[in-house]
This record gives sequence, C-alpha cells and structure tokens, in this order.
Amino acid sequence: MTKRRGLSTTAIHHGCAEGDDIIPPIYQTAIFKHPNGKQIRGRDLKYSREDNPTVNLLERRMAALEGGEDCLAFSSGMAAISTLLLSLTGQGDTIVTSKEIYGASLILMRSLEKFGVRVKCVLNDKLESEIGGETKLVFLESITNPTLNVPDIKGIAEACRSKGVTLVIDNTFATPINFRPIEIGADFVIHSATKYLGGHNDAVAGVLIGPKEGISNAWEWRRNLGGNLDPFAAYLVIRGLKTLKLRVEEQNRKAQAIAEYLEQHPKVKKVHYPGLESSPHHKRAKELMSGFGGVVSFELEGQDSAMRFLGRVKLIKTAPSLGGAETLATHPVSSSHKNISPEERRELGITDGLVRVAVGLEDTEDLIADLEDALATS
Ligand SMILES: Cc1ncc(COP(=O)(O)O)c(C=O)c1O
Repeated sequence: MTKRRGLSTTAIHHGCAEGDDIIPPIYQTAIFKHPNGKQIRGRDLKYSREDNPTVNLLERRMAALEGGEDCLAFSSGMAAISTLLLSLTGQGDTIVTSKEIYGASLILMRSLEKFGVRVKCVLNDKLESEIGGETKLVFLESITNPTLNVPDIKGIAEACRSKGVTLVIDNTFATPINFRPIEIGADFVIHSATKYLGGHNDAVAGVLIGPKEGISNAWEWRRNLGGNLDPFAAYLVIRGLKTLKLRVEEQNRKAQAIAEYLEQHPKVKKVHYPGLESSPHHKRAKELMSGFGGVVSFELEGQDSAMRFLGRVKLIKTAPSLGGAETLATHPVSSSHKNISPEERRELGITDGLVRVAVGLEDTEDLIADLEDALATS
C-alpha cells in the first residue's frame, strides 16, 4: 500500500501521470476530437461542458485533499450546491439545515419547496434533534459566518449514519487543511473555491467531493444544468492550491493574533473566534480541527461605530469574500445579512456593531496597526 502523502505534496502533485508536464496545460477548448473510428462512451472527452482535462486535474486533486472518492468542479460554490441538491432531492424529501448557513444556500433550499422538497431550518444546536425518519439530507457548514460557530459535527454525523441520512458539509471556512469532514462521516463536502482554495480573489469556482456513485449522479446533473468550471479558472485554482497549506496555516496564526489583540481592546465588546479560549466553540473546534481559520468577527458599540471603523481602515479593505491575500472587512447587518429581520439577526447573534474581518496575508503588525488607528476614532 502506498503511503498517504502530506497535504502540501498532494496539493502540488496529486493527479499528474508520469510524463505529464510539471505545470499543467490549460485546455482552452470547448471540443475534443473523436478518437478515430471509436465510439464515444460515458465520460470520454468530447465537450468541455461535460469534462475538460484541466478541470479534471483539479477534481482529482481536491478529491485527494478531502479524502473523498471523487470530485466535480463547478463555475461557483452555488453551482456546486444547487447541482448536488437537485441531484439528491425530490418531491416529499426533507432537508434539515441550519439558520446559520450562507444566505444564498438557504434561499436556494427554500426555493426547492416549489418542487415539493420540505426544508426544516433550525439553529446549529437543534440540528441533531430535527433529524427524523423523513429526513433525506442534512446540510451544514463546519464553521459558520459571521459568528464563527462550530456545530456538533460528530454528533450530527452519527445521527445521520444511524438513520441513513446523507450529510453534506460546506467546508469553505475551515478548508481541508484545518478539517476534513469525510474522515468523521460526512458523505459530501462542498467548497466555494472562490475563497481559500483559489486563494487570490481572482477566480469564482466551486467543488463537490463525495462517493463515486453520488458524484456520477451529480455529473449527469452538472452536464445538463451546465455549471462546469471554465478551464482557465480551474488553472487558477490549481495554482492557488499549491500554497493552500502555507496560506491557511499563516492565516490561522494571523487571525489568532488579531483575535487576541481585539479581545483586550477597550472598545471591543466581544470577539468571535473559535481559537480563543473564551469562545464557547473552542473546545469542540480543538477536538475536530487542526486550525481555527482566518475569519474573526468582533462587536463594537453599535452600527455607527462599526461604520466609522470601516470608513477608517486603510490597509484593510471593505469588500465581501474571504480566503485571499488581501484582508477584507464587512458589516454583516448592512451587507450579507441585510435582508434578515432584526429578530432573526438577534437569534443568530448578529448585532448592529458586528464587524467581520477575513484575514489575508499582510504582515500581522501592519494589520494590527491599521486596526489600532481605526479603533482609536471609531
Ligand atoms: C460558506 C459559503 N458557501 C458557499 C458560498 C457560495 O460560493 P460562491 O460565491 O463561490 O458561489 C459562499 C460565498 O460566499 C460561502 O461563504
């Protein structure tokens, strides 16, 4: 048996055959020539909406990084999620999910109700008790946005296994460097590869990892829905993956330092980061994960302070997304969570003064100096 290689070696080399070029070519083509006189079968190359060798290399690499049997790459994280949900659910099925997942994922699930799919949506803590006989799948995020909660993934995975329910985990915030959901019983793993996997804020992409049969079924849906990844974007994600471990480990360290700095700042009322010992999620995150991620949220006095803070940071830019080299900040109440009622935001712990910082790769001292200056007048 060949020894399983480390995550960086896998991210740099996995999936290349002997004799392949060191740097993979971008197959910038829509079409492939029929082999002379041969009948095209199954997934033989013919058309890039179905398969493309550059995209396929990314897929082999991501399957290995997450420890899954197979993978498909998509034109966005949402294309991966929508294709999987359509491939798995039908009339009369129930999806159990968390109120704490990415807003577009939740809206998408609710829009499946018109096809007769039921959606039960509860806080992370209640997920396990909602799993019943009629549940088809459970969908959760391993670290949630923007309050950085870590659900009881082991307990939920056991409940799913004992009831024959499919468990889907969006692992975007954790990355396979910090956490590999399949190892603790998830069936499918999803990423917005736009974030840490691509890692440079220059490509939109998604990946889905899972068992051969489920991926083969999702492949049929992908080719008919048309959400395959473009080969150039696949190349950018392949390039980004080579430094994934370096970047994520560095982002873990920077985020920890920033969370600790913020925790002692007199203007900061509360810091949300699973790496802090004060976090109610610290113990569970430590058991499950080898790092706590690059996103830190913190609460200022109110919306005015948060807006002043965002207006005053210089190095840190106000923009959505996470996982790139640039540190980005957002005010969830006026951006990602602006269409949610104040009551629901309260239930989710999203206060008017909450600021989310997606830590990039600048020097920690420069980031802290920028925070210090902005906080002084916020
Ligand atoms: C946790 C999570 N999942 C999925 C998505 C959707 O990914 P994409 O924007 O690549 O479609 C996002 C986007 O922000 C996200 O944060």
